[in-house]
Amino acid sequence: MMLNRPRRNRQNEVIRSMVRETSLSPDNFIAPLFVIDGKNQNIPIKSMPGQSRLSIDELVKEVKELYSLGVKCVALFPAIDEKLKTPDAREAYNRDGLNFRSIRAVKEAVPGMLVMGDIALDPYSSDGHDGLVDPKTGEIMNDPTLEVLAKQALCEAEAGADIIGPSDMMDGRVGYIRMALDESSHQNKLIMSYTAKYASSFYGPFRDALDSAPKKGDKKTYQMDPANSTEALREAELDIAEGADILMVKPGLPYLDIIYRLKEMSTLPIAAYNISGEYAMLKAAAQNGWLDNDKAILETLTCFRRAGADIVLTYFAKEAARLLNK
Ligand code: PBG
Repeated sequence: MMLNRPRRNRQNEVIRSMVRETSLSPDNFIAPLFVIDGKNQNIPIKSMPGQSRLSIDELVKEVKELYSLGVKCVALFPAIDEKLKTPDAREAYNRDGLNFRSIRAVKEAVPGMLVMGDIALDPYSSDGHDGLVDPKTGEIMNDPTLEVLAKQALCEAEAGADIIGPSDMMDGRVGYIRMALDESSHQNKLIMSYTAKYASSFYGPFRDALDSAPKKGDKKTYQMDPANSTEALREAELDIAEGADILMVKPGLPYLDIIYRLKEMSTLPIAAYNISGEYAMLKAAAQNGWLDNDKAILETLTCFRRAGADIVLTYFAKEAARLLNK
């Protein structure tokens, strides 16, 4: 006799699915997409097999496909022409700029698709930093950057973005942007804050995709130290106090403990960003036949949910939605 046999609850798929603690659905996904200027452009990103930089006409096609698969939110990342990059990153708030044209095009083509706009200066800055750089000292200037971020946020809101996603990690930006939005009658625009964004080596493929790597130095004076976790709670407390609607952790897979800690401490929904380097690792292994692509994708995304993420930003969104719709 043995009273406790955990295997009894695993004996067939009906029982397993009855006791399953975590669910995964395309409702949980946000698909990040890269946009470039031009027409008919679909340029594969070498370090992210299956992902491309898309011109707006191609972006619209992709968005329609995602929507039909049940993915109802996209995050847009524009790759800006080098010639438009300046030290003051003024292209970040050029109303006719690629970012805002993309947002408008998506909302026009598929009004039900939620659009998340990124807030940070790196794609527009000739220094490749998320904030403005002091030309004398090389320091990233916090408070002058807030002004620019708020302008960028207002342009995104006006273009029709539903969610504003500050990924810059400047201090005080959530509150500053919230105030700017509310003062311009954009009180219903959500802020999904990149609350705990770490200075990670796993952003490499993303920086390839946008040619946005810092020209000098690194991002360690604003992005968090991968060795810290209690500090993430401090960032979360501040973002909550400043009016964030959703808290995000980034990267994802090596930081599941941070997702868990934020979920435990906050009543706000938690998002996780399954970033470019994580995508590249899985794809490289799958292409070599070392991992089963489909199973590894679904397991990965389920684990984000188990750790406490309500939402997952993932380059696997389309593939995973297809698998879940089968
Ligand atoms: C920059 C930004 C980065 C990512 C999203 N926004 C890179 C960075 O901070 O250098 C990375 C996303 C990914 O790697 O998939 N504001």
